[in-house]
Amino acid sequence: MIGMQVDVHHILREGAERTDRALERLLPPVTQIPASIHGAMRHSVFAGGKRLRPMLALESARTMNAVHAASTAGQLPDGIEDLGAAIEMLHTYSLIHDDLPALDNDDLRRGKPTCHVAFGEAIAILAGDALQTLAYQTLASLRCSPARAIRIVGLIAEATGTVEGMIGGQVLDLEGEHTKPTAESVLAIHRAKTGALIRVSIVAGGIYAGADPDDVRRLSDFGAKAGLAFQIVDDVLDMTQDSEHLGKTAGKDVASDKATWPAVFGIEQSRKDATRLINEAFAALDPYGEAAAGLKAVARYLVDRTH
Ligand code: IPE
Ligand code: IPE
Ligand code: MG
Ligand code: MG
Ligand code: MG
Repeated sequence: MIGMQVDVHHILREGAERTDRALERLLPPVTQIPASIHGAMRHSVFAGGKRLRPMLALESARTMNAVHAASTAGQLPDGIEDLGAAIEMLHTYSLIHDDLPALDNDDLRRGKPTCHVAFGEAIAILAGDALQTLAYQTLASLRCSPARAIRIVGLIAEATGTVEGMIGGQVLDLEGEHTKPTAESVLAIHRAKTGALIRVSIVAGGIYAGADPDDVRRLSDFGAKAGLAFQIVDDVLDMTQDSEHLGKTAGKDVASDKATWPAVFGIEQSRKDATRLINEAFAALDPYGEAAAGLKAVARYLVDRTH
């Protein structure tokens, strides 16, 4: 990787393939009894997700490898793909539950019928739960030092929990339906429901590869801004793309009267805010120079994507 000449498509493809191989190895086969739940878990995990959170973890680790030891510059630490896979399991669990009739009530996800449509509500709920427990089983066997692994487990649990974490954000999102959103309320929702998992993906990847407290502060700052930008773009795409292209039902946020960034600021301002946030996020990585080029390229894709 030389200069800013990073090939983002190469990073995206390699990162997705590496993540998929780890997921394939870690998920029980469909033949494993009880087969229905393993079929349901695999249906949702292998439906065609972009694998953005694992990629952010990988690229964050690559940055730290370059910063802390010239001998490992450009390389990924051994076993990092299992961290990415665990994060993707948590993300997929959140999508299965997000789509349930009691939450967003969606029937299309990643271009396929949602888990509850394909397997029934009971199995879908349990498949989400199972992906969550498998994620922590995977994290418990990470190939970094036990001290780093325990730290990663704690941070991920916090980021997906109820206090400014993903579940808390989902609660705010649901309770925010049909109430007029404000800049403050939508910021709190987005930071928690989506931003927290993206931020912790970047921080955990860094810790896996030896990030020190200054690194963690920078990666966390970068991740918080990139995570917010990501959800603003998700909101914009919901209003500007069609369902076939998105692989999920378009126009859902307006139909459900959701508290979104465009609902408060409009589409044009939302696009500008996402770009501004990514540029601000990049500033946090300035001390790393070219070592952060891959991480920045993936973050740029978070806002440039069309699905
Ligand atoms: C969608 O996330 C759900 C949100 C948190 C907004 P992604 O856009 O990363 O979805 P996949 O993983 O590629 O399906
Ligand atoms: C989902 O947000 C956030 C989580 C799954 C935690 P959305 O409800 O906006 O996601 P999509 O648009 O259905 O993917
Ligand atoms: Mg939702
Ligand atoms: Mg949804
Ligand atoms: Mg959305």
